[in-house]
Amino acid sequence: MIEGRKEIISYLNLRSGMKILEVSPGPGVFQKFLRDKIGNDGELVSLDLSLGMLRQCQRKNGSLNVQLIHGNAQYLPLPRTVLTRFFILAGVNLFNDPKKAINEFIRVTKEDGIVSWGDEGFFFGLSKTTFGEKYFSKMNPGYIKPRPNVPATVSEVKEYKVYNGLGYLVTCRKKA
Ligand SMILES: C[S@@+](CC[C@H](N)C(=O)[O-])C[C@H]1O[C@@H](n2cnc3c(N)ncnc32)[C@H](O)[C@@H]1O
Repeated sequence: MIEGRKEIISYLNLRSGMKILEVSPGPGVFQKFLRDKIGNDGELVSLDLSLGMLRQCQRKNGSLNVQLIHGNAQYLPLPRTVLTRFFILAGVNLFNDPKKAINEFIRVTKEDGIVSWGDEGFFFGLSKTTFGEKYFSKMNPGYIKPRPNVPATVSEVKEYKVYNGLGYLVTCRKKA
């Protein structure tokens, strides 16, 4: 799991000093890896709908200097274009309006910044034929939920298979 998370973070092309918004951190499983990459000069903000999850982030990663915000991914409480990177893994499948959320992610990212999102979902090309695929689809319908389309306001779209094919990550660049 830890190696899978490090691999996911490696796709974000992070550097020291960057400013990142992470949405839906849950209990904060990515925060240490994000902070390691952006260093003390970088700024890490994590936003979640659940106060309970934000409390868990505080307990687990209170020493990491993460700014925690209570909010909804579909209505981000941020002005335009403040971020160099946007990241969310596991959360998109829960949104009522994933299309609106993704447009919000792009709105708050600077031109040329990288926006990334992903969730559970079999990688493109797999069908629900194997035992594992049938089992996971029954356990969590998120695996077979249609993925949100990638808006035309971004370029350099890449899709990665993560967590051994049980998840996906899209990365793209906001058009200048
Ligand atoms: C499955 S957890 C993901 C945790 C973590 N990112 C991970 O990979 O393990 C999903 C998180 O999405 C949050 N969430 C659900 N709907 C949301 C919304 N509309 N806005 C922000 N966060 C939301 C939940 O509170 C929960 O913390």
